Amino acid sequence: MSIVTTSETSHEIRGMNLIAAHSHITGLGLDADNVEPLPQGQGMVGQLRARKAAGIILRMIKENKIAGRAALIAGPPSTGKTAIAMGMSQSLGSDVPFTSISGSELYSLDISKTEALTQAFRRSIGVRIKEETEIVEGEVVEIQIDRSISGGTKQGKLTIKTTDMETVYELGAKMIEGLSKEKVVAGDVISIDKASGRVIKLGRSYSRSRDYDAMGADTKFVQCPEGELQKRKEVVHTVSLHEIDVINSRSQGFLALFSGDVGEIRSEVRTQINTKIGEWREEGKAEIVPGVLFIDEVHMLDIECFSFINRALEDELAPIVIMATNRGISKTRGTNYKSAHGLPVDLLDRIIIISTESYNSEEIKAILTIRAQEEEVELHADALAILTKIGEEASLRYAANLVATANLIASKRRSNVVEVEDVKRSYSLFLDVKRSVQYLGDENDELIASGMIKQDDAMEVN
Ligand SMILES: Nc1ncnc2c1ncn2[C@@H]1O[C@H](COP(=O)(O)OP(=O)(O)O)[C@@H](O)[C@H]1O
Ligand SMILES: [Mg+2]
Repeated sequence: MSIVTTSETSHEIRGMNLIAAHSHITGLGLDADNVEPLPQGQGMVGQLRARKAAGIILRMIKENKIAGRAALIAGPPSTGKTAIAMGMSQSLGSDVPFTSISGSELYSLDISKTEALTQAFRRSIGVRIKEETEIVEGEVVEIQIDRSISGGTKQGKLTIKTTDMETVYELGAKMIEGLSKEKVVAGDVISIDKASGRVIKLGRSYSRSRDYDAMGADTKFVQCPEGELQKRKEVVHTVSLHEIDVINSRSQGFLALFSGDVGEIRSEVRTQINTKIGEWREEGKAEIVPGVLFIDEVHMLDIECFSFINRALEDELAPIVIMATNRGISKTRGTNYKSAHGLPVDLLDRIIIISTESYNSEEIKAILTIRAQEEEVELHADALAILTKIGEEASLRYAANLVATANLIASKRRSNVVEVEDVKRSYSLFLDVKRSVQYLGDENDELIASGMIKQDDAMEVN
């Protein structure tokens, strides 16, 4: 099997909301040495212990020390668990993959849960591929293009030189197209990738700096290259295992990467790819870059998924798995056993746990201020105070959501500033969970089937 590789990345639609709520976060907010968390930095406020722990994990990831390990961020709702994971993702190197899924998402896809998890795992592992390509680099002396009498096929000759040598190349139709697209003329220094025929204009030769014709104001001058015309050059690009899977599963092909509609990938394809990559690693052509797989609301997974994860972490090609949950002691789905965070014991055994704590009012105020700035909303000091109170009593996320709705109400009355009354209107229009449940319970017993909001689930609506 010949493996196609590409440096394109797929565009992820799912998870947009997840990110929008955290758009103010640009990192973990650690100090210059990336060790101690700043009280406030990169959009992050407080939660110092958890941020420091996340920073340590990040360092281990960068040093390539914890592939195949897992961490769990555990804490009450709205304490920044997802925010910390997003902060970590922002601090990873640009070619380290980060994949984010939510536990409940697995049940809504039209592929099996384990296939969805497999894809998520393989999205989170990068393969850094080194390729040698042969290029021709030099200054163009002359381009000669002949049209055949019928006007169809084109032929031509390219004379190109370095300071040490000069050669004439025959040009095919594809190369002629490349040269004319780049508007290459005599005196340009160009680079041609021999395999793909791609032409890149590097600039104009200094020796031609006196020819004022054919020059714009932005003309870049470069030296005429030295030495051989043909050179070997190493290029490096990183793709995820999943991208390689998709490109090479014949039934879907390249386009599936962009539509996102991948379906199940046959296991033979993956086996072949793993073998091939193993060979490349031995030959020094490829390197594995373990990335991060973030599984939010991990308590939504069932025992089957947890067994899968446990096994996948053993694999030689495993990413770092970071999970988040707001559950304490609870039942693992699909079993009758209760355990810490609803995770099976064998998985608990191999994870490190980071815990998050509820915020005090100062911190809530600071976070709401940052959110308001992010959404370009101007809050009156009293409005901020009341929102902070709401954040403490209902939840931070609810208060953060009120920022946007209160702003809409303010702009309805043509005000640029959100005042207390706007927050109050919005508070009375949009219920938080506690009030919503209470309302349905108190007054509309018949409206809601008694099983619909189970005590257990009501906890997590947030
Ligand atoms: N320490 C923090 N600094 C800045 N923003 C935060 C912090 N913690 C939470 N937030 C913001 O508050 C909201 C709720 O936090 P979130 O991470 O979704 O909580 P959780 O995942 O623990 O339920 C999000 O918009 C998040 O970005
Ligand atoms: Mg969350």
